[in-house]
Amino acid sequence: MEIIELDPADGDLVSGAFDVMRAAHAADAPEHAPPHKGVFVKWLAHPSPDADETIFVAVEGGTVVGKLDIGLPNRDNLHFAGADLIVHPDHRRRGIGTALLEQFIEHARAAGRTELSTATHMTWEDGPERSEAGRRFLEKHGFKLALTCVIRRCATDAMSPEAEQALLDRAVAAAGEEYEVISWLGRTPAELVDTMCRLDSMILSEIPLGDLELEPETIDAELKEAKAVRNEAVGVIPVTTVARHRASGEVVANTVIGVFDDPDFQHGFQWITIVDPGHRGHRLGTLTKVVNLRLLREQFPNVGTIWTDNADVNAHMIDINVKMGYETVDASGEYIRRLDA
Ligand SMILES: CC(C)(COP(=O)(O)OP(=O)(O)OC[C@H]1O[C@@H](n2cnc3c(N)ncnc32)[C@H](O)[C@@H]1OP(=O)(O)O)[C@@H](O)C(=O)NCCC(=O)NCCS
Repeated sequence: MEIIELDPADGDLVSGAFDVMRAAHAADAPEHAPPHKGVFVKWLAHPSPDADETIFVAVEGGTVVGKLDIGLPNRDNLHFAGADLIVHPDHRRRGIGTALLEQFIEHARAAGRTELSTATHMTWEDGPERSEAGRRFLEKHGFKLALTCVIRRCATDAMSPEAEQALLDRAVAAAGEEYEVISWLGRTPAELVDTMCRLDSMILSEIPLGDLELEPETIDAELKEAKAVRNEAVGVIPVTTVARHRASGEVVANTVIGVFDDPDFQHGFQWITIVDPGHRGHRLGTLTKVVNLRLLREQFPNVGTIWTDNADVNAHMIDINVKMGYETVDASGEYIRRLDA
């Protein structure tokens, strides 16, 4: 077995890496949205603007048997390294995972990173049972659970039309006249870029992070543009609804669902929802989410399911999601290991 860096132009290895993702999806969490080959291929070809990404594959007899994605933030959080590691289900318990994890640790250490993070599936309550392999594997290698995120899904028509309207009416009444709701697909309208950067830069200080030590990321117009360019290149369309405070002109609530530019793909992914701390308690989270759901249904009728994950302690967000019909599936355990500086 050898571990080699994946060249995005190497079609055979890229297909092999994707086959590992597909097999792991079927074996580990078949209820989840399946991986999408077109998006994966384009994602490899268009690097992230705010993280240095390196993909390694474990190859045995010409076949890809494991895959390791490493992301090193390159603007903020220069102490941090994140990874996603999977071994093909037919090749587990033979040390391939360990070899890839050692590759991750070496790569992170060489880049001076001291907080290493990776995640694994976990069973949640009475949901489908998940293998203990990831947890045991990571604990054996000195990683500790830092944060548990509960994964939920929601049919886009989970609420009856009457219940949805009632939820929206209550939110509109609570928000009053002070806020204007604005929605769009794709790129942020030019006049909102600066105020959206302000809100985006709050994200990492406002979401629960458990024992992860991350500083807020500074999002400026240039980075926002670079992220939009990458989304377009990769075929990912953000569906966005915000609330703008009329008096100040600032956007103070934002929710985004990411969809793939593929009319046959049935899944959407809830990305961020955030309300500025100074504007909480006006139901802006519910208001923007219900309006965004309606926009998604209208523009992307192919999307029947939305996926979200929330820290298990994020009571307010979970409360809104449950009202909208989200149901738990399983959980993702975020594990960390600290290296000496
Ligand atoms: C977790 C995963 C990467 C392990 O890959 P692997 O190649 O099977 O791992 P290794 O053979 O190197 O296992 C090393 C040790 O981890 C532990 N381990 C791995 N799988 C285990 C299992 N199913 N049950 C109990 N312990 C397990 C054992 O201690 C094992 O050593 P041993 O075989 O000598 O007992 C693999 O199961 C996988 O891809 N799971 C799905 C994705 C995932 O959860 N990734 C999270 C890890 S970042």
